[in-house]
Amino acid sequence: MAEKPYTSPAAARSRKWLWASLVALGVVGIALGVGLGVGLNINKKDADKGAAATTAPAGAVATTVPPANPSTPVTNTTDPVHGGSGGNGSIVTTDLNATFTYINEFGGTWAYDPVNPFNVSGQAQSWTPPLTEEWVWGKDIIRGVNLGGWLVTEPFIVPALYEKYNKATPKAMDEYTLSQAMGANLAKEMEEHYKTFITEKDFADIAAAGLNWVRIPIGFWAIETQGDEPFLAKVSWSYFTKAISWARKYGIRILLDLHSLPGSQNGWNHSGRLGEINWMRGSMGLANAQRSLEYLRSFTQYISQPGIKEVVPMIGLVNEVLYAEVGKDAMGSFYFEAMEMIRGITGSGAGNGPLVAVHDGFQGPANWAGFLSGADRLVLDQHPYLSFTGPNQNPWAQQTRQACGWGGGVNDTSSSWGIIIGGEWSLATNDCGMWLTGVDAVGEYERAYGSCAQFEDYRTWDAGFKQNVLDHALGSMDALQNFFFWTWRIGVSSVRGYAPSPMWHYQLGLEQGYIPKDPRAAGGFCKRSGYCPGCAEFGGTYPASATGGASHAISPAQSAEYGNMAQAIVSPAWIAGSASLLPTLTQTGTPITLAVPAESAQWLSGWANANDRVGAWVPVAGCPYPDTYAGTDPGSMPRALCNANGVGPVVAPAPVPAPTPAPTPAAPVPPVPPAPTDDPSTSAPAPTTAAPTEAPTTPPASSASSA
Ligand SMILES: *[C@@H]1O[C@H](CO)[C@@H](O)[C@H](O)[C@H]1NC(C)=O
Ligand SMILES: *[C@@H]1O[C@H](CO)[C@@H](O)[C@H](O)[C@H]1NC(C)=O
Ligand SMILES: *[C@@H]1O[C@H](CO)[C@@H](O)[C@H](O)[C@H]1NC(C)=O
Ligand SMILES: *[C@@H]1O[C@H](CO)[C@@H](O)[C@H](O)[C@H]1NC(C)=O
Ligand SMILES: *[C@@H]1O[C@H](CO)[C@@H](O)[C@H](O)[C@H]1NC(C)=O
Repeated sequence: MAEKPYTSPAAARSRKWLWASLVALGVVGIALGVGLGVGLNINKKDADKGAAATTAPAGAVATTVPPANPSTPVTNTTDPVHGGSGGNGSIVTTDLNATFTYINEFGGTWAYDPVNPFNVSGQAQSWTPPLTEEWVWGKDIIRGVNLGGWLVTEPFIVPALYEKYNKATPKAMDEYTLSQAMGANLAKEMEEHYKTFITEKDFADIAAAGLNWVRIPIGFWAIETQGDEPFLAKVSWSYFTKAISWARKYGIRILLDLHSLPGSQNGWNHSGRLGEINWMRGSMGLANAQRSLEYLRSFTQYISQPGIKEVVPMIGLVNEVLYAEVGKDAMGSFYFEAMEMIRGITGSGAGNGPLVAVHDGFQGPANWAGFLSGADRLVLDQHPYLSFTGPNQNPWAQQTRQACGWGGGVNDTSSSWGIIIGGEWSLATNDCGMWLTGVDAVGEYERAYGSCAQFEDYRTWDAGFKQNVLDHALGSMDALQNFFFWTWRIGVSSVRGYAPSPMWHYQLGLEQGYIPKDPRAAGGFCKRSGYCPGCAEFGGTYPASATGGASHAISPAQSAEYGNMAQAIVSPAWIAGSASLLPTLTQTGTPITLAVPAESAQWLSGWANANDRVGAWVPVAGCPYPDTYAGTDPGSMPRALCNANGVGPVVAPAPVPAPTPAPTPAAPVPPVPPAPTDDPSTSAPAPTTAAPTEAPTTPPASSASSA
């Protein structure tokens, strides 16, 4: 269990009060004692006022400090290796010993103290609290980006990685086949990608862009692989821990997003494997879900450690479950089980562990009204995309009006239920973008209109086009309020020589002027532009339990509805009535403690709550299990009892084979945007996305989702 060198928010608050009083008394000249746990907060105040830092009060060690006036660059090089702090114009040396000039026009600072790493943090901007201070829901706004394509790769985000294996056998279509295609080079090539696609400098650039959070998708293979699962095991975890250090240094908060689960929760390539859904679905659905709970447990134990929990205050349980195939009860019962497990580790209430984000399955927030009501620290995550709604050529104004319409559902959910985030969205209004709809696939827009060139090659865009895209960005940000753009970067295609999905590329948008230099400019955009005259940002108060106050008991009705994971598995239809025979895991294994980086080993154990000693979910010795990804055929269902409930001779009747070939997963159906609303007072609180329609029988080659 970790000994903690961290300063509690309460202590920080009281110091803030003290320093504020000193300032009021005219005691100016307070310097930050980097490593002493004082003063980042006073620096914020001073930065806002434009005051200058001068000398230290009695008792404080006079070290050079991040300048209150951001135009005064200071680099404090207190300690090896590369400890220091600074504001705009200062020189940073990165963990790879590269140097760059820290440019941050928003009063941001960076800070790193290798001796007392958890007592300091940078501050992304003057208006974002440093990690040593509390985040105040309802006042502070998440303006974030995803680091998509990094620890979970996708063909359209990192095309060059997949282009290299486009002629391989198997052809690289998802990380599963990419890993197989890389073969003996897997470790070398994948680690080269981790090392270069996102680096420390990106965190400085993200802060400089006025952003304050990142959502980091991660696959289960960051923890382990089993059997012949081909993914590179464990290595991505070590990059996640680097991200934690970088985030602390530049004052960025992290949402850990479990994006790819054993068995695949949606059949899309970013789940790790394209094809069938074997998570809370099919004969392996329960076992894969129990395995997922174990991984969420390891992540939670790690990120709840003092010194880490301030940097990673939110965890996303499952990215984009395919609702139409898995069903709400199955999704909801997993969320319930995970939520209770997490609160069992951390306790309930604000500050005792991460907020827990649950995805809406593209149903829109209204569909989840009242879900697990009473639970604290629960967040609803929606990913509204306009890009997969058919090959429309609607004018930009209409598209942006549609995005502005998301605001109503955000408001309703915020005031009646709790925190809601737009965990993914992009600028795309159609499915153009190289390989966006799959490797070598041609999307709907291109089929309908012959070419996507206009949307894929940003080098042809004129000022008028960029302005339209910029307005679309402002409208989307304004409506979603707490947002994470998908994604920070799209890689360059080795064939085309440029990044071929510019509508998904935040960093390029900043450079090219189609993303706002200061995202605060979005505030009130929809109303100002007449897209939603009645709109305003939710400025109110969340229900107390949602942010960790008040009572934390989940309502008995909700507990009853979602309290049984095995019974909730109802897909495919042939599984009905077989809940007792489903292969299950049993809690007799050794829990997996995630690796702590060497430089933190003296402070962290990797396991926040030593009292959590339940055995890990592992297979029942002697019982047969279908392959992780092969449980959607009726023949995969055991006909005799052999699971955690016991072992018996009972032979179930052979399942009746489906009249048609084995069920194929639903083609992902894109979120459908709500009808545009100008006057929220007269419109029903429409869900921001419509229910996926019934599935065509094609495999998920044209995906809804993210990316
Ligand atoms: C962090 O600061 C506190 C006091 O502000 C101090 O007691 C603690 O030792 C520091 N942490 C470390 C790791 O030195
Ligand atoms: C930030 O630093 C750069 C480079 O030193 C300088 O050009 C710019 O004016 C500074 N900005 C502010 C707001 O001080
Ligand atoms: C960076 O330089 C330090 C010495 O200042 C050295 O100890 C460290 O190994 C170097 N790191 C890398 C990644 O080269
Ligand atoms: C991969 O994922 C993208 C993004 O969700 C999706 O559009 C595409 O259809 C998927 N399939 C393939 C084969 O890449
Ligand atoms: C959002 O809520 C604010 C009050 O917090 C209200 O003024 C505004 O009309 C609402 N906007 C929408 C689109 O519902």
